[in-house]
Amino acid sequence: MTNPLDRKKLAVLGAGKIGGILLRAFLDQKLVSASHAVATVRHAERAEALGKQMGIRVSTDNRAAAHGADVILLAVKPMQMADVLDEIRSEITPKTLVVSTAASVPTKFIEQHLADNVPVVRAMPNTPCAVGCGMTGIASGKHAGAPHLELARAMFGAVGRVVVVDEKHMDAVTGLSASGTAFVYVILESLAEGGVKMGLPREIATLLAAQTMQGAARMVLETGDHPAQLKDGVTTPAGCTIDGILELEDGKVRVTLIKAVVKATERAKELMFDEA
Ligand SMILES: NC(=O)c1ccc[n+]([C@@H]2O[C@H](COP(=O)([O-])OP(=O)(O)OC[C@H]3O[C@@H](n4cnc5c(N)ncnc54)[C@H](OP(=O)(O)O)[C@@H]3O)[C@@H](O)[C@H]2O)c1
Repeated sequence: MTNPLDRKKLAVLGAGKIGGILLRAFLDQKLVSASHAVATVRHAERAEALGKQMGIRVSTDNRAAAHGADVILLAVKPMQMADVLDEIRSEITPKTLVVSTAASVPTKFIEQHLADNVPVVRAMPNTPCAVGCGMTGIASGKHAGAPHLELARAMFGAVGRVVVVDEKHMDAVTGLSASGTAFVYVILESLAEGGVKMGLPREIATLLAAQTMQGAARMVLETGDHPAQLKDGVTTPAGCTIDGILELEDGKVRVTLIKAVVKATERAKELMFDEA
């Protein structure tokens, strides 16, 4: 497979949790070489530590980092975006691809803070990109053409699956697959607790829960079967599974999970208006 970032200079501005995960993954996969990658963070001590850890140049100077970059990955918090964009504006031309992972911030907002015609792609990855099993939704801005979207797709495709959506769906992607990672950990932990309650050692219970969730998810992805059909395949009439399902329904697990995604999506719409 050709390397989408081959010989391109990448600047990750805001190498915190998600920026750091993506940068580490891109370096590990040799999508970008250490000499072609730079990053920034807010605190100088953190920049120094991260630079040593990653073996790349990390600073607190966004403008210097953006200088000469072909691809700029913005991974600062939504409320920090305006300041960072104003800082780097003079370094960005229509030849630069700007990819933003910030929740809540529309491509229009980013475009308005930059020179005319700069291509912007909005991306919403999740933390499993760290193990090559991420899920990223991407949406193109007004000036991003097919090659820009393809480059972004290939970058995130190197660390998981990618879906291209209309930008109006990006908050829902945030609520479902980005925040959803945390919801899944809660479910996984709770399943393991069930095993612990029934006497399984915690380590074994966690393994059983995690592998079961991975297996169930892979069945959906690889067979394309509807989850309800796959569930029916496990649920023997008058068996033990239906008793467990009865408890789930009694505990309103479906409506609770639906509401979790709805709430997270609604909150995603507001994040950029939070105080910096
Ligand atoms: N976490 C996720 O699962 C996830 C998933 C998808 C998208 N996102 C989005 O990604 C963005 C970052 O989220 P996060 O969870 O990774 O947050 P985070 O861990 O707090 O990372 C933010 C990073 O930005 C740095 N920073 C702050 N102000 C800066 C500035 N003016 N210039 C350069 N760097 C600056 C911080 O530096 P210091 O380290 O020095 O404080 C930190 O490293 C958010 O917009 C979020 O919506 C997050």
